[in-house]
Amino acid sequence: MDCLVVGDIKFNARFAHPIFMKDSDCVDFLQWALPRLRLRWPGFRRVRKQVCKRVDRRLRELGVPDVESYRDFLEEHREEWSVLDSFCRISISRFYRDRGVFDYLREEILPTLAATAHASGDHTLRCWSAGCASGEEAYTLNIMWNRCFSSRFPDMRLAIIATDSDPNMLDRARRGCYSSSSLKEIPKNWLAEAFTKADEQFCVKPDFRDGVDFICQDIRLANPEGRFHLVLCRHLVFTYFDNELQQDMLRRIVTKLESGGILVTGKQERLPIEPVNLRPCHPHLGIYQKQI
Ligand SMILES: C[S@@+](CC[C@H](N)C(=O)[O-])C[C@H]1O[C@@H](n2cnc3c(N)ncnc32)[C@H](O)[C@@H]1O
Repeated sequence: MDCLVVGDIKFNARFAHPIFMKDSDCVDFLQWALPRLRLRWPGFRRVRKQVCKRVDRRLRELGVPDVESYRDFLEEHREEWSVLDSFCRISISRFYRDRGVFDYLREEILPTLAATAHASGDHTLRCWSAGCASGEEAYTLNIMWNRCFSSRFPDMRLAIIATDSDPNMLDRARRGCYSSSSLKEIPKNWLAEAFTKADEQFCVKPDFRDGVDFICQDIRLANPEGRFHLVLCRHLVFTYFDNELQQDMLRRIVTKLESGGILVTGKQERLPIEPVNLRPCHPHLGIYQKQI
């Protein structure tokens, strides 16, 4: 199911009329379907419109008259569950999202990680941005490193692996061009220094793209090779996945961390369990350190 391309399902002309699903029908449907995908309804409550719109469009594509019939369709066509799963990817992101988190990374986390890695003879600081959307988080980190640390740690480099299961998001990430709404939290001087402007789009300059690799990967099925000093897993696992899957993912992520490495979750997210080998670094920012 890595990076799904929607399969060949026949259009049924019999029901080819417009369908505008009621919100309450979509809510009932999602409350039925999400647990079957190991996803959790509370994560989707506020962003359900994105998913409902896609489901509505799918009903029309298939010529299915209503969401009840779509349930039947799902029961009869197992492959359709992957299509529905792909509709449940919420793609909201922006540069420097949650300013306090990135300020703390800049002031406390990155200098400490870099100094510790350097002292142990490691010249690459390895980071994983999991569920990277269009690359906003990964580029934020890379720009931060270039501006604030590359001259302080001249013989160290930052290497970022950014993964997402949505190939369209990754295409946009590789293009690296954004509208101003994605950039409203970024420090003003970064904008001038790290982007070029063309046709109302701001594109990350090549110097600030170097060191970021985008990989299409479903976090449930595969993870990048190696271990990381820093893992950002924000607004994905701990918002949308069900509790048991969150626990599985958390264990897996912790094994991908170097000892002393840092896990950053979303500011509002809670860990499903408190693994004995993780300690909170900050009470409110969702930042944890793997015990040495
Ligand atoms: C809400 S965005 C979060 C982006 C970024 N981490 C942030 O906090 O701004 C969630 C991203 O996770 C991706 N995603 C959803 N399910 C995924 C999965 N199973 N594996 C990998 N990525 C997934 C979506 O495509 C989307 O780009």
